[in-house]
Amino acid sequence: MGTALQIEDLSLSINGNRILDNVSFSLAKGSFAAMCGRNGAGKSQLLRCIKGLRKPDSGRILIDGAEADGKTRMKRIALVFQNAEMQVVSQSVEKDIAFGPENMGLDKAEIARRVDNALSLMDLKDKARQRPQTLSGGELRKCAIAGIIAMEPDVILLDEPFANLDYPSTLAVIRALDTLHDKGYTILVVSHEAEKFLAHTDMLLVMDGGSVREAGASREIFSRLPDYDIYIPGNASFEELSWLRR
Ligand SMILES: Nc1ncnc2c1ncn2[C@@H]1O[C@H](COP(=O)(O)OP(=O)(O)OP(=O)(O)O)[C@@H](O)[C@H]1O
Ligand SMILES: [Mg+2]
Repeated sequence: MGTALQIEDLSLSINGNRILDNVSFSLAKGSFAAMCGRNGAGKSQLLRCIKGLRKPDSGRILIDGAEADGKTRMKRIALVFQNAEMQVVSQSVEKDIAFGPENMGLDKAEIARRVDNALSLMDLKDKARQRPQTLSGGELRKCAIAGIIAMEPDVILLDEPFANLDYPSTLAVIRALDTLHDKGYTILVVSHEAEKFLAHTDMLLVMDGGSVREAGASREIFSRLPDYDIYIPGNASFEELSWLRR
């Protein structure tokens, strides 16, 4: 199988405050991992460090077993921000999805192939010509995810992908993530809304106070989530932790 992403002893302080404290974990290739943790646990700052938007004080980040510098990570690791609308900038959905591949200097045929592939993966084909500003919240997030798929990254990080989404849009995003998982992408979803999607994941990481406190198979450790103030419905089985009935 192999390891897609490995984080070793990552630490970060901001203005003398320890935000991340020796964070270590790894994601197997093709895994769909969840990261839960209460507000302020350090999840978003960790994603920013992994992506290369912020330099940690210490620690190593490896992709495919090799240490990856900030520039490599910017290219090979995709991050979908919580406010996906900030990521969507173009005049139409298809132009927006083409934006990343164009910046990578790919030729026209390859760009067209990737845009088409991302549109169908995210089930956005009938929205291709629509202005992103007119999309619903769920469609907008799917558009942001499509734009990232078109860059064919090694790892996709998503920060709170269910925030502000209604029930059908939440289902749409869960379905989209399931599809990406089936296609073999390595995915890390940061969210405290475990009851919506945990059943689809194979790995669970729990962050608290800037450290990873739990890491393991989701099915085996999900019942510890309430110890960290993460809500799961009482007595729910692992399979029930999904808004998408499978
Ligand atoms: N520029 C900054 N100066 C000081 N503290 C900061 C700065 N940026 C982030 N922090 C602190 O770092 C901690 C971790 O923030 P982070 O955004 O990573 O939390 P989070 O786990 O993503 O929380 P949430 O679930 O609310 O999104 C917080 O206590 C936050 O106040
Ligand atoms: Mg956050």
